[in-house]
Amino acid sequence: MAEEKSYEPFVQDKVSQKIAVYPGTFDPITMGHIDIVNRSLEIFDQVIIVIANNPAKAALFALEERLQMIRDCFPLTEKRITVSYVEGLLVDYAYKRGATAIVRGLRAVSDFEYEFQLALMNRRLEKEVETVFLMTGLRWIYISSSIIKDVARHGGDISGLVPDHVCEKLRHKFMS
Ligand code: COA
Repeated sequence: MAEEKSYEPFVQDKVSQKIAVYPGTFDPITMGHIDIVNRSLEIFDQVIIVIANNPAKAALFALEERLQMIRDCFPLTEKRITVSYVEGLLVDYAYKRGATAIVRGLRAVSDFEYEFQLALMNRRLEKEVETVFLMTGLRWIYISSSIIKDVARHGGDISGLVPDHVCEKLRHKFMS
């Protein structure tokens, strides 16, 4: 996996490389998110998974914990994936990284209105960056980070819905 260094190499590669950012709260990352990343790699040369801030959400996991959980989902040899975070506007970050697209996963009609709002606002802010929607894999259509946390909090079985290391982190979080 590519290490965070500076923004420059991505900008230089803009003409030859198709770069996408995949933003989210990732509290925690789930199999649904991983499915979107893997499918994005079929379309884009580089995918930057970026933890962004949704002011409506209070995260269970600290930023560093979420970053590490995401990193641990992908082999170190996968140089096409970068894991990072953004504090400001997502489109500014995407533009500076030379990304031409923001990838979002759609689960159901209920996601649509909010996603439509985000995409249109992002386009208004930066026309060079397009939002691309991928349908969430059918197997993951009913999951969300919140529902997984809720099940884990009550001791329910979440295996198969998140990677094993995330399962462990959730168990640990709710045991302590
Ligand atoms: N499979 C399963 N679940 C999925 C999924 C998939 N493929 N894709 C999304 N989800 C779930 C997530 O787990 C999350 O669940 P939760 O609500 O229980 O946490 C939910 O769908 C949507 O969350 P996420 O994709 O993390 O989006 P978000 O709404 O939390 O994030 C930001 C929105 C962070 C991308 C947005 O606020 C942002 O861009 N912030 C940066 C600041 C900025 O630029 N603001 C202006 C925006 S116009």
